[in-house]
Amino acid sequence: MLAMGPQTRYAAAMQFPGETPVPTPADTTGAGAPRTFHVKSFGCQMNVYDGERMAELMAADGLAPTDDAHAADLVVLNTCHIREKATEKVYSDIGRLRKVAGEQGRVPMIAVAGCVAQAEGEEIVRRAKVDVVVGPQAYHNLPALVAKAAADGAAALDTDMPALSKFGALPARRRVGPTAFLTVQEGCDKFCTYCVVPYTRGAEISRPFAAIVDEAKALVDAGAREITLLGQNVNAWAQDGQDLGGLIRTLDRIPNLARIRYTTSHPNDMTQGLIDAHRDVESLMPFLHLPVQAGNDRVLKAMNRSHDRDSYLRLIDRIRAARPDIALSGDFIVGFPGESESEFEDTLSLIDAVGYAQAFSFKYSPRPGTPAATMGDDIAAEVMDERLQRLQARINRDQHGFNAASVGRVCQVLVERRGKLPGQMLGKSPWLQSVHLMADAAIGDLVDVELVAAGPNSLSGSVRLRQAA
Ligand code: 5AD
Ligand code: SF4
Repeated sequence: MLAMGPQTRYAAAMQFPGETPVPTPADTTGAGAPRTFHVKSFGCQMNVYDGERMAELMAADGLAPTDDAHAADLVVLNTCHIREKATEKVYSDIGRLRKVAGEQGRVPMIAVAGCVAQAEGEEIVRRAKVDVVVGPQAYHNLPALVAKAAADGAAALDTDMPALSKFGALPARRRVGPTAFLTVQEGCDKFCTYCVVPYTRGAEISRPFAAIVDEAKALVDAGAREITLLGQNVNAWAQDGQDLGGLIRTLDRIPNLARIRYTTSHPNDMTQGLIDAHRDVESLMPFLHLPVQAGNDRVLKAMNRSHDRDSYLRLIDRIRAARPDIALSGDFIVGFPGESESEFEDTLSLIDAVGYAQAFSFKYSPRPGTPAATMGDDIAAEVMDERLQRLQARINRDQHGFNAASVGRVCQVLVERRGKLPGQMLGKSPWLQSVHLMADAAIGDLVDVELVAAGPNSLSGSVRLRQAA
């Protein structure tokens, strides 16, 4: 379990069959062991979920959480490896933590978790002074690794990707806000040529149906009114002939679970059953994040996307036929190796054809070990910058247009937190827009609202009728 020897970069991934509980991790509260901890998550929502689960593990092990990274005895950096900047940020964060602690005369423990831990393994121990390195499939061992590092005074590593699921080893969910994440699927078999995820997160696996339903019920009991199902390819979730649409239909029957969302989806895994769920299931929110990455067929092929421009656009038509008001979101990469100006313009015209409600866009970043990193034909930095700006201008235009077109709509807003002004509350519309309200409402309330004004990033709403949580 505790792999202390040399780590292979990108250890081979394995499928996990079930969620058998493993023994309770060792107690880390002995002499010299940390008493307080802070978890800092970078990157995707799956990392946010993993960070919450690690915090629950450390709390169950007797450590107290602190919001101040510079006061904690143990800092867990839950890292992202998707682009180069994300990796470099980890090393600068470690440096800053050590520097501030040195000035305070403290020596905190530092644990590196997440995808950088998986990809870099022992390299992290060589490059920076850290105590624990733990991969995304092994973090249920975090308390044991912390105890070992504290006892040995040497770094403890675990980047195994065991067949045994970590999920069964995690404590039950006890207290959450009105919106909660639930990982139902992990890993990726798609091998897009630019992407590290298949190497750092391993092969596609679906969590068992019963474990997901149990966790969803526990989240609702703990206060969640909305659950976002997570997976690197969440719509690849499948089990015993059921697809994600079937899972959503089951979750829809949980009393007091008002809203279901899911992310991130791959166009090729968009089953008819899932599309039908968008037509039939009221609690499934009308929002879909469906990355396309580029709008030109040669680039899509070089990216190994396994869909083309036309099949993506036809898919969007089918989804809109099932749920006409659906808000679409996407991811785009500009400056993929060899991308010509006219190929880039195909991406702009695809954006025009779809009309996204929002989207994320990135400059291509070569990742070591991926096929695209050795393709050559790199795009100059200033060309990438200029393309990103043009693309983001289109996305912003469409996002603003989508928000403006929402004015006059009456919808429910799930209140998530207090706003900056007295009496102001903030929540989300069904289409994942942020909505400001002046309302006598509590966090977790679903409020009937008319959307009355739109800005580029949020709307304001006026309350119609209050519905108790
Ligand atoms: N360079 C730039 N963007 C990338 N993404 C993934 N890998 C890279 C890379 N090497 C983007 C994709 C993906 C999102 C999560 O990150 O758009 O959908
Ligand atoms: Fe990466 Fe492609 Fe898998 Fe998405 S589908 S995680 S971009 S390899």
